[in-house]
Amino acid sequence: MTVAVYPGSFDPVTLGHYDIIKRSSSIFDHVIVGVLNNTSKTPLFSLEERVKMLKDAVEDLPNVSVESFEGLLVDFVKQKKTNVVIRGLRALTDFDLEMQMAQSNRVVAPDVDTVFLSTSIEYSYLSSSVVKEYAKYGVDLKDFVPECVISKLMDKMK
Ligand code: PNS
Repeated sequence: MTVAVYPGSFDPVTLGHYDIIKRSSSIFDHVIVGVLNNTSKTPLFSLEERVKMLKDAVEDLPNVSVESFEGLLVDFVKQKKTNVVIRGLRALTDFDLEMQMAQSNRVVAPDVDTVFLSTSIEYSYLSSSVVKEYAKYGVDLKDFVPECVISKLMDKMK
C-alpha cells in the first residue's frame, strides 16, 4: 500500500489544493494531508480551524485523511511509515523554492522523495494569500475555495 503525504499551511485550503489532493488520491492508495503547525507564523485560521476545513473539504475522498504536524516534514513522513511527499507546482516561480525544499529534505532523509503534480491550469494563479486578499474586499469566493470554507472566511473578515 503506497501512502503519500501532502503537506502545507492550508491557510485556508483552496480549490487548487483540493485539485491536487483529489488527483493524488487516484494515484496513491492513501493520502495524508499534513497541516503544519508553524509556531513562527501567525496564520489567519488556527490549526484546528484549518484541519476542520480540510476534513470537510475532502469528505468525498475516502482514501484521504487529514492530520496536523509540528517540526520537520521528513520526521512526520517517517512517522507515517512512508517516503513520499506530494507538492503542487503552479508556475516557474514555485520551482526554485520547491526544488530547494525537496532537495534539502533528501539530504536530511535520503529515502524521502517528493512527487510534483502540475497544478491544473484553471488554478495556476490561485494561492491562499490571493484568497485572503479577495475575501477582505468581499469578492465572491466560489471559484477559489471549497464551499465549506466560504462562510468561515467571511466570518473572519467581519
Ligand atoms: O503551504 P506551504 O506553506 O507552502 O507549505 C510549506 C511546508 C509546510 C511544506 C514547509 O514549510 C515544510 O515542510 N515545513 C515543515 C518544516 C520543514 O520540514 N522544513 C524543512 C523544509 S526546507
